[in-house]
Amino acid sequence: MLRSADLPTHGGRTLAYVYDSGLAEADEIGRHALAMYSSANGLDPTAFPSLLTMENELVGFARELVGVPGAVGSVTSGGTESILLAVQAARDARKVDRPVMVLPSTIHAAFHKAAHYFGVEAVVVDVDRATKKADVDATRAALEEFGDRVVLLAASAPSYAHGVIDPIEAFGALAAERGLRFHVDACIGGWVLPFSPTAPPWDLRVEGVTSLSVDLHKYAYTPKGASLLLHRTPELRRPQFFAYADWPGYTMLNATTQSTKSGGPLAAAWAVVQHIGREGYATLARAALGATNRLAEGIAAMEHLALAADPESTLLSFGVDETLDVFTLSDEMLARGWFVQPQMRFGELPATVHLTVSAATASSVPQFLDDLAAAVNSAVAAGPVVVAPELVAAAQATDPAELDDAAFDGLLELAGLGGGGAVALPERMAPVNALLDVAPPRLREALLVAFLDRLTR
Ligand SMILES: Cc1ncc(COP(=O)(O)O)c(C=O)c1O
Repeated sequence: MLRSADLPTHGGRTLAYVYDSGLAEADEIGRHALAMYSSANGLDPTAFPSLLTMENELVGFARELVGVPGAVGSVTSGGTESILLAVQAARDARKVDRPVMVLPSTIHAAFHKAAHYFGVEAVVVDVDRATKKADVDATRAALEEFGDRVVLLAASAPSYAHGVIDPIEAFGALAAERGLRFHVDACIGGWVLPFSPTAPPWDLRVEGVTSLSVDLHKYAYTPKGASLLLHRTPELRRPQFFAYADWPGYTMLNATTQSTKSGGPLAAAWAVVQHIGREGYATLARAALGATNRLAEGIAAMEHLALAADPESTLLSFGVDETLDVFTLSDEMLARGWFVQPQMRFGELPATVHLTVSAATASSVPQFLDDLAAAVNSAVAAGPVVVAPELVAAAQATDPAELDDAAFDGLLELAGLGGGGAVALPERMAPVNALLDVAPPRLREALLVAFLDRLTR
């Protein structure tokens, strides 16, 4: 009953947030290991040596897949934690005043969270308009401009929003020439791209790549709460560790952000990876890559739709023409039993629809495309949501820093997210999303924070 409004995690019809291998046995093994280890504590590897063995074996598996001999790694709670730690380690390895990291504009928001947490300035470089890939010349210029203040360069394999792989070899050369750390965010692609026949070099084997994040809870299809952060050498990893002995209790010694942590996600990840194995992952990756390509072909051929970029992994995004909007289209897909994720406009890029394609979606690609065609027809018939011009003007003129609680209550009500200080989700999200889409990013953030705050009061 409590779960009745939740998105389904299995069945291949939820194309964001969840990953479904379609292998019931692998799921069962993961659930069993998760339960078995839920009370074991990953805080101290000497107290629970089986967790240490599993962590080292998982890192070993990944080293074979995407690493180099001598690479080391840690299991973290997710992609964001892996990225936070990569940034923190880079900052602490090179103690400079006003540290900077140079990032393509398509890099995952987790890097901006790291910038916020660790006081590292994010210098953002525009990507190529057509390919949506990081721009090597502009990046070189940024590295030159910020010189010794740069502690980290980063790129994606692939980017979440468009599913394209940044020029990792060229970035590796930029980093190696300067003796810089270079992190490849392969959180979402790292367990798929090793099996892609067409992917360009992107992993730790590329010269100049010093660290890499790859999430197990994505395309290794393990229960949530597991990612890997790999470093090329133990020396590069060292600043990631934290120890504190100067208090009366145990010496705190952590490789990752959490201290006490459930052994469940790690044990579950180990069990699922052992069960599926390299061959199993090759089969799953082929299924998801093939499904993505068939979806891309079908979408490219559909009237009113256009791919935002040529997909290079298992993610894709597409935009629509002016006869409809992506928000109405997403609602229409939900009404047909598919969750697709609207992405708001970004700079000159219009809003798009994002699909994260799991192996379990492969068998229902024709059904998806039929339903998408019907959803497009309905969205065209409804026409795009029109946001009143005075609201657009007000959104663009509003400085969120000057808004008080009462103003946020009023704005949330206007946006259709509740009233009288209480919040609620409307049946259809299109009017809300269309309004958020015209709000500048800072206002969008502030409104959503106000919303979350009220949801959890
Ligand atoms: C490329 C990329 N990096 C980082 C993350 C963040 O991962 P998590 O949500 O596990 O923290 C994601 C999540 O989708 C991602 O796609």
